[in-house]
This record gives sequence, structure tokens and C-alpha cells, in this order.
Amino acid sequence: MKILAIETSCDETAAAIVKKEINTITLLSNVISTSLGLHAKTGGIIPEQAAREQIKFIIAVIEKALSDSKLKHHELDAIAVTVGPGLIGSLLVGVETAKTLSYAWNKPIIPVNHLIGHIYANWISNPSYSSLPSFPSLALVVSGGHTDLVLIKNHHYISWLGGTRDDAAGEAFDKIGRMLGFPYPAGPTIAKHAEKGDPKAFDFPRPLIGSPDFDFSFSGLKTAVYREIQTIKQPASPQGGFNKITISDLCASVEHAIIDVLVKKTLKAAQKFQVKSILLGGGVAANEKLRSKLIQDTKYQLPNTAIFFPEKSLCTDNAAMIGAAAALIGKEEPWKNITVDPELYFY
Ligand code: KG4
Ligand code: ZN
Repeated sequence: MKILAIETSCDETAAAIVKKEINTITLLSNVISTSLGLHAKTGGIIPEQAAREQIKFIIAVIEKALSDSKLKHHELDAIAVTVGPGLIGSLLVGVETAKTLSYAWNKPIIPVNHLIGHIYANWISNPSYSSLPSFPSLALVVSGGHTDLVLIKNHHYISWLGGTRDDAAGEAFDKIGRMLGFPYPAGPTIAKHAEKGDPKAFDFPRPLIGSPDFDFSFSGLKTAVYREIQTIKQPASPQGGFNKITISDLCASVEHAIIDVLVKKTLKAAQKFQVKSILLGGGVAANEKLRSKLIQDTKYQLPNTAIFFPEKSLCTDNAAMIGAAAALIGKEEPWKNITVDPELYFY
């Protein structure tokens, strides 16, 4: 089965062609055009501007995905498209394009939930893994807009366990980075500065780390960092204002606090539901320290549980993951039934 997948939920315009054989998903092409450069200048995404950029690139991106795959459109079996969650203007560009192509080429559409897509990036062929994730699985979806723990008993049973009550983990990285003058998205810049810092330099709060549920909260951490920055800025502060070391220490301490909570809650859920595998997905899953702490703590606490994460380029938004989810759990629909759902969630 060969699927053209389209993803336009936010600021990436992406198209990919995936091939499914039994349970194996291989990428025949994977094209991403991003308008991040524009948003870096404004410190965040302006939805109207993101949608206009989607319109500029969507056709060229789909054409390139087709030509890279060396397939003709009549060789495709279906078109998959992200229908939500996301920015309504951006989503509409992908969905309306998919519907038009579906009508013109007479192919069914497979609507895909973007968050499920992040999880299914873990099923794309990856030379680092000798096997596919076995069920039951626990997925931690950590992106700019979401932080969720999800139990996957099998491809047809996905249940939400908990999520953030306020800011998502990626949003916390981005907002704290903004306070430090970093461009959007700030997660990778914080991670880079953190490499040279002391993660214990600042004792930031780890909200809800010991709560009995599977929820998260990162807005208190953001406020604590804001207060610390105001204190450091005072000429009489022990740090004597900002310097390279203070910034690295702040970044390392922020990263450490966020990762501590993510890993602790993930392992608590993995233990409770006796899962055989833990899957990471979403942009923050590209964070090297999150990956290594999760591997290390899992080895120690749950030695029989396997850890999976997609390669870094498949953690941030892409269409390959949408194709993988469509191929493994998607349901074909006639184009007339497809609508965008910006608020789509796990339930
Ligand atoms: O999944 P994604 O590309 O878009 C959404 O669906 O939101 O995630 C983007 C988020 C941003 O908040 C970005 O700062 C964060 O992922 N991110 C990282 C890293 N790379 C991307 N956060 C921490 N460390 C990273 N290495
Ligand atoms: Zn995403």
C-alpha cells in the first residue's frame, strides 16, 4: 500500500510518500518546508501568517514528494491528511488540497490525528531497532502544544491517561527561551546552552511530580524562572547580572526540571500499566537529555521495558508520521466526509 501523506497543522508544510508491507513502513520520500524563519523574527507563530505560508508551499512540496518517490499519482492507493489538532487556517490548506486531489485522482482520503501521528513515527523503519514496539505500550507525546501520556493496548485501543493542565513542555521551553532572548522555537537553543551549565545551579520547582494522577503543569516553573531572571538582573545579585555561565546554568536547571517531571511520570504510568514498551514522540522527544535519562532510569527501574523514539527529524512535525498512522490504523473516507477539527484530541 502506498500513501501520499500531507501535514500542515502549524508552521511546517510537509508531504511524504510511505509504503506499507505487512507491518513495515518505509519512506519513499519525505519533504518539509518550514516558515520557522519568519516566526523566529516575531518571537512566536502568527496563525494568519503561518496559513499564508502554507498556501505558498503546499503544491511544490507535494510535487517534490511525488518526484522524489519516483511514483506517478495513479500508483498511489490513498491520500492521508492531518485534520487536527492545530491552527485552523494552516489545517484548512492541507485538508482542502487533499480533498481536491482525492476528487481529481479518485483516491480515498485517510484523516489523521496529528498527535497519533507523533506516536506512530515510532513504527517507521529505523535501523537502530531490531523490532517494532510491542503492546501494551505507553506513549509520551511532548510537543510545542501538547504533553500527554497515552496507553496503547493495541492498534485499535488508545486511551488517554493524563496531560498538561496549562503549558506544554515545549511551550515552557519556548516561553522561558523568549525571556532569555532566544529565537522561537527555543527548545534546541536551551538544550545547547544547557550542555555547558550546571543542572543543579538553580532549584526550580517540579510541579505535580508526586501527584497521584498522570497530569503535568509547567506554568509554575515558567513563573519561577521569570522571578529568578528578575533577581539576577539586579546589580546587587550574587551572580552580578547575566553572563554566559548564568545563562548556561539557568538553561541546564530548566531542562533538568522539565525532564525530571516527564521521566518520573512516564515511568510511574509504565509501571502501573505493566507496559512492554515506552514510545516518545513530538518535538521535545528530540531532546538528547530526555532520551538518555529515560533510557537510564527505565533500565534501572523497569529493565524489561523497551524504549523507542523516532529519529530526530521525525520527532518534529513531518508528514511521514501521518502516513505511518494512516497505514497502520487509518480508515479510508470519501472526500466529502473530511473536515478540519482544530480541537481534535485523544478522546
Ligand atoms: O512537535 P513539534 O514540531 O510541533 C508541535 O506539534 O508543537 O514540536 C515543537 C516543539 C517546540 O516547542 C520546540 O521548542 C521543541 O519542540 N523542541 C525541543 C527540542 N527540539 C524541539 N525542546 C527541547 N529540546 C529539543 N532538542
Ligand atoms: Zn506536532
